[in-house]
Amino acid sequence: MTHDTPPPAGKTATPGPVGRQQLQALSLLAEDLYDGLDRLREQYGPSFRVGMGRAQVLWLSSPSSAEALLARPPADLTMRKAYSFLEPVGGRGALIATDGAPHGTRRSDLTRRFYGSDGSVWMESLHERFPAWLDQHAQLQVVPSFLDAVRPLLLDVVLDTMVGRSSLAEDRTWKQQVMALMEHSTRSLTEQFIRVPLPGSSWASFLATRREVDRALNAAIDERLAQGTPDDGTFDVLDLVVSMAENGRYPAGGARRAIRDEIMGLISAGFETTASASTWALAYTQSEPVWGSELKRRLQDLSAKEVLTDPWVDAFLNEVLRLRPPAPVMLRRATRRTQIDGHTVPKGSLVAFTVWLLHRDGDLHADAATFNPERFLDTKPERWSFLPFGYGERYCIGGPMARTLIKGLLHQLYQQADVSGVPGSMKPAGLSLRPVQNVQVMLNAR
Ligand code: HEM
Repeated sequence: MTHDTPPPAGKTATPGPVGRQQLQALSLLAEDLYDGLDRLREQYGPSFRVGMGRAQVLWLSSPSSAEALLARPPADLTMRKAYSFLEPVGGRGALIATDGAPHGTRRSDLTRRFYGSDGSVWMESLHERFPAWLDQHAQLQVVPSFLDAVRPLLLDVVLDTMVGRSSLAEDRTWKQQVMALMEHSTRSLTEQFIRVPLPGSSWASFLATRREVDRALNAAIDERLAQGTPDDGTFDVLDLVVSMAENGRYPAGGARRAIRDEIMGLISAGFETTASASTWALAYTQSEPVWGSELKRRLQDLSAKEVLTDPWVDAFLNEVLRLRPPAPVMLRRATRRTQIDGHTVPKGSLVAFTVWLLHRDGDLHADAATFNPERFLDTKPERWSFLPFGYGERYCIGGPMARTLIKGLLHQLYQQADVSGVPGSMKPAGLSLRPVQNVQVMLNAR
């Protein structure tokens, strides 16, 4: 363990590479983020820092750090500038990039919608869209990438939830443009961060697509603002957000922009994560054939309603989310020099709570590297050892929706098709933890 200077009394000296080791650590992380994190954790323990001053990241992964960050969030650690990489799609006004009182009131309005649902509206949309999706994919001998195949289906369902009452929900061109925006976040970090709109560059084409997406979405927003919300129960999230704007939840004068950001922020927070988790669930049925057959048996025996509450299916999904959490890192940025769990955080630097490491900690999860859904059957995990959807005032508002969609999708697949495939690499990459190697699958509709 190496330290720059001894810590002041009462504070923890955060270990981490110094001098030339910094470059080695950075190249480890750049080459293979998750392997790099595992290696740095082995060397320095659950909390370490890489970089200097403002350009420093404090990587945390212990239960005490989780509690300090999520249960007692220090006011000087904000989301606003931490999640700025989501800004191109969600804009500055997305919930995930908002802090303070405006965040609290908007969050509580939105949460009622996502937590007040029994899931039937999401399931209806999935069931309606699934047969055409299966027809399309069962015709291929092999679906070369389950993730790529499942993304349009999940985007359809997410868009039904968000804007289902508008003609956008059936507009193929608009959906393809939204998909193109979402794909931007799966590009290399260099491509995502070099934002110079040179003709022919991926950033220029991203901006052109975003203009098209916004033009159509803004027209739908104007229509809703003019019409008011319906009273016949056909209420989508856009209606909710419009009514939030009417109730003064957004800054006066910028309602349309704020509504746009809220909707696009929700789509981007929910879609890639759910697609990634569904793909890992399928990958584990292939790489863990014993558990995979048990899951298949249960999915075939259970009704669509039963599958949502079945403890074993829930345990399988939890184990997938433990080993492949689609939000592997929770980020905060320090607006001032501050402290977290005894560690000093310089002004401007990032705190990265690393769910990836927490979930693989052998002191918290017996036989941590082994895929074993039954660990979630007998005992509930300790509060601070399992956090796939975060905790507290930033807890994921789409958790119930994601769980419903993943279980519903697996249920439809195994009810309506013979599913087979061979295990491939389980290596993850990127901030949504997608598989490096495509997960291939064969689908034969019954
Ligand atoms: C498997 C799928 C999903 C996972 C693993 C996931 C995970 C998370 C996590 C860990 C956070 C907390 C981030 C932090 O504290 O830094 C979060 C926040 C959030 N999630 Fe999800 N999420 C998923 C799906 C969804 C869906 C389907 C939606 C909505 C449609 C959604 C919307 C949000 C929003 C809006 C926030 C920000 C909440 C706030 O700032 O108050 N997520 N999610």
